[in-house]
Amino acid sequence: MTYPIRPIDESQWPAFALVLEEGFGWRPNPAQNERYKAETEFDRTLAVFDGDLIAGVTSIYSLTMTVPGGQLPVAGVTAVSVLPSHRRRGMLSSLMRRQLSDIRERGESVAALYTSEASIYGRYGYGRASTSLSFRFRKPGGTPFVANAPSDPSLRLRVAKPADVRADLEKVFASVVARRPGRYERNARYWDGVLADEEADQGGAGPLRSVLAEDDGGVRGYALFRIKSSWDADGIPDGEVRLQELEAADPAAYALLWRSVLDRDLVSRVEAGARPVDDPLLALLADPRQARAGWTDELWVRLVEVGAALAARSYSAPVDAVIEVEDDVCPWNARRWRLTAGPAGAECAPVDDRPDVTLPVASLGSAYLGDGMLTEHLAAGLVREHSPGALRSLATAMSWSPRPWAGLTF
Ligand SMILES: CC(C)(COP(=O)(O)OP(=O)(O)OC[C@H]1O[C@@H](n2cnc3c(N)ncnc32)[C@H](O)[C@@H]1OP(=O)(O)O)[C@@H](O)C(=O)NCCC(=O)NCCS
Repeated sequence: MTYPIRPIDESQWPAFALVLEEGFGWRPNPAQNERYKAETEFDRTLAVFDGDLIAGVTSIYSLTMTVPGGQLPVAGVTAVSVLPSHRRRGMLSSLMRRQLSDIRERGESVAALYTSEASIYGRYGYGRASTSLSFRFRKPGGTPFVANAPSDPSLRLRVAKPADVRADLEKVFASVVARRPGRYERNARYWDGVLADEEADQGGAGPLRSVLAEDDGGVRGYALFRIKSSWDADGIPDGEVRLQELEAADPAAYALLWRSVLDRDLVSRVEAGARPVDDPLLALLADPRQARAGWTDELWVRLVEVGAALAARSYSAPVDAVIEVEDDVCPWNARRWRLTAGPAGAECAPVDDRPDVTLPVASLGSAYLGDGMLTEHLAAGLVREHSPGALRSLATAMSWSPRPWAGLTF
């Protein structure tokens, strides 16, 4: 049975929101509900209907995302849900196909998403494209840094309520967003979300707090965090810092902010979720083992228009290869492409030449932001190499430093 798919307008928000509430098993409070509604780009919503009933939904945020060597409009797929009464009837699949075709029509060549369960989106051509680490410090007080860690006597720390220093936070973030693939620009709505500080987001750890690193010229970095204060049964302080964000325009401000997070009175644990895999903190710590790390997949990326997407980023090394792409979901990509690229730019055009490599489109998505997944995929037997060394050259050219990381769920 096929179910019709249509965008919704604002008047249908309650039915759209209900599908999200039921799918995710949660209930936003009225303020959250209003915020999500205000964030929704109604012209980019899709709903699948069973008669008059909205049974499945998805939406898109129009992001400006950093990619290797520049920034691109990227479709940030979000709000994917199907009513529990209608699951496993193919509704997600039909929404995904329609959404990819809409993205293409709009002229965006790349889509990205965060996934609730990592096994869902590979079938639609999304590949795991970035990783984040969560650090856990036990007894962090005075965790030593390497002897040559930067310090700048002109820097000082300022404690402030985050909402009172929003302009400073926005300024610092704007100065770092283009430095790392995967980061995306935050408009006022995203900042509203970061600073909303709903009780439901506090996880029992109290209000969002901030500390700024600044000098006479202005702010150079910030940390956003919560503190769960407690004492153990023996009366020993046992507080916990939960770091939400730490951004700095320069290394000295970065080091100072981490010192302030790791060295607070009455704190015996620091939890820093969602950090990049190449976090400079690991180089600053004299004993990096102190940062016990867990990892998780982060962004999943889908090349919607392979030729345009591959031509839109920079490459770490010269490469000239014919890539045969397999793509059942977006058949316009399923052909051979010659990628001629290097640090100065790239061209990618359809050709009929003999392929050097054959890849599923999800493997290209995995490598797109620079995370060097292609050699993993070769070793795992997921991609095929026809010209010896061609895959390694492509993998080297597509890899990028710093490694990709978004740092904030959308
Ligand atoms: C995930 C969800 C959207 C799937 O919707 P659905 O309409 O049941 O999915 P479909 O019937 O179109 O299934 C398509 C395929 O995905 C698979 N699939 C669906 N949900 C899956 C899941 N959670 N994990 C792994 N595979 C899943 C199906 O088995 C099916 O596989 P097939 O193509 O091999 O037959 C739905 O179960 C849901 O709303 N879950 C809760 C909210 C959620 O996690 N949303 C995703 C946010 S990123």
